Amino acid sequence: MSKIAAAVFNRKGGVGKTTIAVILAQIALIRHNKVLAVDLDPSRNFSDALGFMKNYFRDSLRLKDTLEDSDADSKEEWIIIDCPPTLDDSSRKAIDFADITLAPVTPDFFSLSNLAVVYSIAAKDGKEKAQLPLVKVGYDNSGISKIADQLISERDYPIAEDLPLHKRIPFNITSGLVWSTGLMARSRQPFERLYEKIIRAIDKLNDGVVDINEVWTDRKEDGTNDADI
Ligand SMILES: Nc1ncnc2c1ncn2[C@@H]1O[C@H](COP(=O)(O)OP(=O)(O)O)[C@@H](O)[C@H]1O
Ligand SMILES: [Mg+2]
Repeated sequence: MSKIAAAVFNRKGGVGKTTIAVILAQIALIRHNKVLAVDLDPSRNFSDALGFMKNYFRDSLRLKDTLEDSDADSKEEWIIIDCPPTLDDSSRKAIDFADITLAPVTPDFFSLSNLAVVYSIAAKDGKEKAQLPLVKVGYDNSGISKIADQLISERDYPIAEDLPLHKRIPFNITSGLVWSTGLMARSRQPFERLYEKIIRAIDKLNDGVVDINEVWTDRKEDGTNDADI
């Protein structure tokens, strides 16, 4: 596996950016990868949550609050960057630096409304649309989720994963207890799928694939994909 730099960004707060960054970092660490975690949000939620994990993972986890070009040469297999909910210089640098920028979106207009500007800025920096996939958080069968889904498909946004809401997450993440009492195997699965899809997506992008469906759809050996199951 080559080195992976993944940022998590949306100009909307409260959409699950830090939660995704924390759980991806955990999964990488559990799988014996080293992680450089960069917390660009002055709220310091990412650093606080990872502070607890640092006690356990020690030197495998390194925390920083700024991103530097030299981080591209760091020894860690994963660089995970949690952005503030603003498209400021630090977020722009993160999107430019990252191989993949995940944009979590909840089923509400505001979490989707300002994505177009992000895509156009990223495109100016030479990024492909496939490098900025959405992560749907908390979509269900409600009318409002369907409206949001329609907006996503009209704009042809790539989708990396669909994460359900899980009632343990708000407390465990913010208290730092996520490591000891957090998500058990089954609840962790959507996040693990996301983790694995990121690895495969980067391989495909490195192979020159830019089609959003090809990059983000799981194709199995037998030619079927997730949608067929
Ligand atoms: N999949 C989820 N299930 C349940 N609660 C979640 C989930 N993702 C995020 N949350 C909760 O939503 C709130 C906002 O999440 P957070 O990751 O802090 O968002 P952001 O970093 O975008 O501001 C937190 O209370 C968090 O625990
Ligand atoms: Mg946050």
